[in-house]
Amino acid sequence: ATDDKWVPRHPDLIRIKGFHPFNGEPPLSTLMHFGFLTPTSLHFVRNHGAVPQAGWESWTIEITGLMTKPKKFTMRDLLCFPSRRLPVTLMCSGNRSKELSKGGKSLGLKWGPGAVSTSVWGGARLCDVLQHCGVLMPKKRGVQYFVCCSGADKLAPSSSSYGTSIPLEVAMDESRDVLLAYEQNGDLLTPDHGFPVRLIVPGFTGGRSVKWLNKIEISAEQSDSYYHLHDNRMLPSQVQDLDTAISEGWMSRPEFVINEMNVNSVICTPAHSQTLTIDPSNEDAAYSITGYAYSGTGKKIGRVEVSLDGGKTWKFCSVGYPAQPTKHGMYWSWCFWETRVDVMELVESSEIVVRAWDSAMNTQPENSSWNLLGNMNNCWYRVKIHRDD
Ligand code: MTE
Repeated sequence: ATDDKWVPRHPDLIRIKGFHPFNGEPPLSTLMHFGFLTPTSLHFVRNHGAVPQAGWESWTIEITGLMTKPKKFTMRDLLCFPSRRLPVTLMCSGNRSKELSKGGKSLGLKWGPGAVSTSVWGGARLCDVLQHCGVLMPKKRGVQYFVCCSGADKLAPSSSSYGTSIPLEVAMDESRDVLLAYEQNGDLLTPDHGFPVRLIVPGFTGGRSVKWLNKIEISAEQSDSYYHLHDNRMLPSQVQDLDTAISEGWMSRPEFVINEMNVNSVICTPAHSQTLTIDPSNEDAAYSITGYAYSGTGKKIGRVEVSLDGGKTWKFCSVGYPAQPTKHGMYWSWCFWETRVDVMELVESSEIVVRAWDSAMNTQPENSSWNLLGNMNNCWYRVKIHRDD
């Protein structure tokens, strides 16, 4: 394919309600069904505006700013750099935001636990391309430069494009595997996921992985895009409305920027609405509880535990990863976990709870932390048990 083609969206994608462009998440029932790699048509979609039209041959990425050789790259130019392919999980900062609504009204889309998907992304390493442009690194200690990226989508307010930035040291760190990706699961990108080229920042919130990428500027300042300044932040719970957040300067405080995602885990089977057929007379029967877990830091999920008594005692689960860590020891993708519980234990329980730990012993809190933008919810995930007896 040389030009973007309409690629049908998978009918199972659950459209997020509200007046906005298409945004959708796969149902939990299908998320694990296809294995570790989410089929491209089922990958969650987060679009702030209409998908821009794009052509492979005519596309350019303009790279400017603090460098000696600024340049406009075509897609053919990008293909001249060595390509790298790796499985990466993208998770939206708003994953599981629907559960936060119990704590009051938060802004932003109301996502279930499916704003997460995993693909093999392929493309050129951003560090190689920036090196080619003679990128300048800050000379003084404590000074940070930023890679400010924007996409071709035209968004409200004022027809601006979607833009955001990541620290330059992250982009240039080979171990972080930041890509200018033009492939997803072995094919060219689809229009929904950024055709012809997007940024992929493993471990960071999906919001930093700019789609339909057409501008990169290396700057001493972070991006001034409306979308960078107003989203992918986690404000303290005392900030109750957007006007206060802006007028009192909460939005612009760097300590509330979300980059690396926190540890999370979710139960996929049994589903919330599923009725379990339990035959207590068959004492040998076991039931398989499964789900996903993810840590955005590149650290391995070292432990997943399930509780059937509201967190008093925990049962250790087996954990499987799709791939070996990268050569730098990074785990950029989710893992799937499973445990088989004795049917008699389930009979006596009313709820299944899961929590995960990464290798630095970061874990999930018991309760959610309400925040205005509805981001980063990673409290223990709970499923009520329904029985047909
Ligand atoms: N890039 C552009 N140009 N426009 C967007 O609306 N959404 C961001 C990011 N990149 C966005 C974008 C957000 S918030 C997320 S979570 C990811 O894209 C989602 O990527 P996906 O739709 O491929 O899952």
